[in-house]
Amino acid sequence: MPNNQNSLIKSIFNKKSTEELISASKHSELKKTLNVFDLIVLGIGAVVGTGIFTIVGIAAQGGDGGIAAGPSLVISMVIAAVACVFSALCYSEFASMIPVAGSAYTYTYATMGEFMAWMVGWILMLEYAIGNITVASAWTGYFMQFLKGFEHVLPAWAVNPPIWLINDYRSALAICDKEGLNPHDVIPYFCGVIPISINVPAIFIVLLLTLLLIKGVKESTKVATFMVCLNLFIIISFILVGAFYIKPENWVPFAPNGVEGILSGAFIIFFAYIGFDAISTAAEETKNPQRDLPIGILGTLLLCTVLYVFAALVLTGMVNFTAIDVQAPIASAMRFVGQNKLAGLISVGALAGLTSVLLVYQLGTTRILYAICRDRFLPKGLRRIHRKNRTPYVLTWISALVVILGSVVMDLKISAELCNFGTFLSFIIVCAAIIILRKTEPDKPRTFKVPFVPLFPILGIVMSGGLMVYSLKSLKTSSTWFVMWLIVGFLIYALYGYKQKRLEERRKAFYSKESK
Ligand code: ALA
Repeated sequence: MPNNQNSLIKSIFNKKSTEELISASKHSELKKTLNVFDLIVLGIGAVVGTGIFTIVGIAAQGGDGGIAAGPSLVISMVIAAVACVFSALCYSEFASMIPVAGSAYTYTYATMGEFMAWMVGWILMLEYAIGNITVASAWTGYFMQFLKGFEHVLPAWAVNPPIWLINDYRSALAICDKEGLNPHDVIPYFCGVIPISINVPAIFIVLLLTLLLIKGVKESTKVATFMVCLNLFIIISFILVGAFYIKPENWVPFAPNGVEGILSGAFIIFFAYIGFDAISTAAEETKNPQRDLPIGILGTLLLCTVLYVFAALVLTGMVNFTAIDVQAPIASAMRFVGQNKLAGLISVGALAGLTSVLLVYQLGTTRILYAICRDRFLPKGLRRIHRKNRTPYVLTWISALVVILGSVVMDLKISAELCNFGTFLSFIIVCAAIIILRKTEPDKPRTFKVPFVPLFPILGIVMSGGLMVYSLKSLKTSSTWFVMWLIVGFLIYALYGYKQKRLEERRKAFYSKESK
């Protein structure tokens, strides 16, 4: 028995050497087409979306029962960016050393062994696949706003469809509750018990992007480039035009809720920065990954921080923080000062921004699953490649299915909170992994090194850990779902992944004996 226990413990801490990981990726069938520009486009495409177009208003104004940061949101943004920068540095060192699809999953495999690697892969699904449910739900909101602009030409059913066709069932029930409607009057029920509510626009956009992703990653980045350019143009126009409408008296008081407001704002606005790590999932499709991945990751974070800080300054300068609209803060601020045309354009920009986030997150989901299947934690057959387009089409469909089913049962808030938990935990693990890697492989060449190790990774752990503990305490429903997600991940490993890995080991041992 002690022998069995020893071999179990040895197995779950089994690491893959960096050489082994890189050599497995050399046989990758994925096409290498991306350069540093494509990577920054992918990065901005993944980062700039729901956060700056929607969540910024909640952070500044406080939202439903929250603590307002007010104009001090600018400081919250810098704090959230600093929390991200330590993790971004760690991601950059890993990406320059192990340029393999799979991101944090692969890095954990090289440092903490197979069990932790699988768990990180599973947790990353929260950030990418579940995060995409949030964005798909927000997409529907902006899409309906966009259609309302064409009220006079479109039929009434398109502009004001029944609530059960544009919401998940939780949101549909919440709307009934808020508007004092009887759900049985406005929502169909299956067998009179189960409410049927399907977010059709969200499903439509996910299906459309799935077809694009199967067509090819280069085609997908071309579409993302267009979306990102439009998106950036809109945000920069907001900053330049809005600057003329700033009333400095709106910045007084600067921090209406002091430190508490600033920290609460930092926690909420953290969602706006999530996504820079998605660049590392495209490592196997990058032409010169060792040089380009660190530039892509840090460049994206820097650019987004500058944009966000200016956008927050202008927003809180244009409108008193108490009057900021939490649904569409940026567009409403323009309407507030009489710039109605620009307000309409901002809705289009938001739609473009959300579409690019959806695209990059789905790309990330499939590339992480690709690496996980290659390691046999999930059936290897799932990573089948499309013969003509050379894209992992089965996994692309699976990730679409997760978002589609998720958008039926989860609302925007729960999925966003779960996404935050997943991201915090993966950031913490990547920071810890860098400290381990410096001990285990100090001399291995890397084109990028995190300065001041272990101080910087420790600061990353403390900042992400602090935000995570803060939210775990206050968000009861999503923290329960989070724990359940971890338990399901553990069971899949115990009942499937562990056995497959041992079978693989036996097979390898057999073949190496045969060849001798
Ligand atoms: N940062 C991404 C967004 O704001 C997740 O939509």
